[in-house]
Amino acid sequence: MLIIETKVSSLSKDKEYIFLFMNSGNFWKKIIPLQRNPCTVERIYEEEIIRMSKVTVIGAGNVGATCANVLAFKEVADEVVVVDVKEGISEGKATDVMQTAQLLGFDTRLSGCTNDYTQTAGSDVVIITSGVPRKPGMTREELIGVNAGIVKAVVGEVLKHSPEVIFVVIANPMDTMTYLTLKAFGLSKGRVIGMGGALDSSRFKYYLSMALGCNANDVEGMVIGGHGDTTMIPLVSLATYKGIPVTKLLSKEKLDEVVQATMVGGATLTKMLGTSAWYAPGAAGAFVAEAILHDQKKVIPCSVALDGEYGESDICIGVPVVLGRKGIEKIVELDLNTSDKALFAKSAASVRATNEVLKEINVL
Ligand SMILES: NC(=O)c1ccc[n+]([C@@H]2O[C@H](COP(=O)([O-])OP(=O)(O)OC[C@H]3O[C@@H](n4cnc5c(N)ncnc54)[C@H](O)[C@@H]3O)[C@@H](O)[C@H]2O)c1
Repeated sequence: MLIIETKVSSLSKDKEYIFLFMNSGNFWKKIIPLQRNPCTVERIYEEEIIRMSKVTVIGAGNVGATCANVLAFKEVADEVVVVDVKEGISEGKATDVMQTAQLLGFDTRLSGCTNDYTQTAGSDVVIITSGVPRKPGMTREELIGVNAGIVKAVVGEVLKHSPEVIFVVIANPMDTMTYLTLKAFGLSKGRVIGMGGALDSSRFKYYLSMALGCNANDVEGMVIGGHGDTTMIPLVSLATYKGIPVTKLLSKEKLDEVVQATMVGGATLTKMLGTSAWYAPGAAGAFVAEAILHDQKKVIPCSVALDGEYGESDICIGVPVVLGRKGIEKIVELDLNTSDKALFAKSAASVRATNEVLKEINVL
């Protein structure tokens, strides 16, 4: 057993000692309340010990680096590793973020490496952002050829070092990349989670708050279906402002505008930025990882494998799920109205057609 350090944690507001050590390749920590005076090693070993949580982010581009930054700043995990194929990019970005630790007061250990998967060993959650982003005028679906090869290779490498890991897939076309991750490696469905609904729902709530002239945190709203400009379904009928249905507060025309703005939310930013957006996507990836690692049991729309739920099977598509330490702990079946049911079936047909390409290009 290798003892790494003993210190008073700044994060825990000086109320406790954190005793760190490494064993079998994983970091563990013991938190010892100060009032219990940890004066002898024997006393320390009497205490229960906790394995430190570890997240790996694959891809240190715009989305991956933002996600790693949020994970570190919010101390979602004790340890975060970023991997990229581009020499030095992960190391550089990780070092840059670590140089904000003293300014922002976080204790997460963030490191980067170039294509070295041994560094990812023992990860609890791996977030896959490696892939080509959209260019103006490009659909998410057009990315499939390039990104399928990258995602499949990356997942294979990750599993060699973290066989029990939970995947959060961000690379586009996200529903199809999630399906590929699940199917190519025969993983259990609770361990493969596509991130799209968390971002789309955040955009939906933003546009609703703009229309209502209110704080977005007071708005409830959810986007389900495929994570595509034409496949996502902002659920207007279930959206509320402080418990009041938004259908009672906004006109049909205004709500149609909100839905339209949400659906092309990504494309609008791609046009402005010349590439895919990254602040909200990176934060949404960290939000999903936090719900898993902190066992929050939050209901978040994610792309997950359906087995009869919502009338669909053999597909990964966005529906609300309860996220906890085991990954997907429950699929929540909403009572959709007739129109939303029809939209969901249409969306699933479109996602399924994109999945077919995986077979055509021989990656599945
Ligand atoms: N699901 C969502 O809501 C959502 C939102 C935004 C972006 N995206 C997608 O996320 C992906 C990343 O977007 P971005 O803007 O960060 O792109 P980016 O080009 O800035 O970053 C991608 C990074 O992946 C790296 N990479 C490529 N192949 C790799 C490999 N085999 N192993 C490790 N790293 C590799 C690249 O070197 C690059 O640094 C894109 O597919 C984009 O479409 C998804």
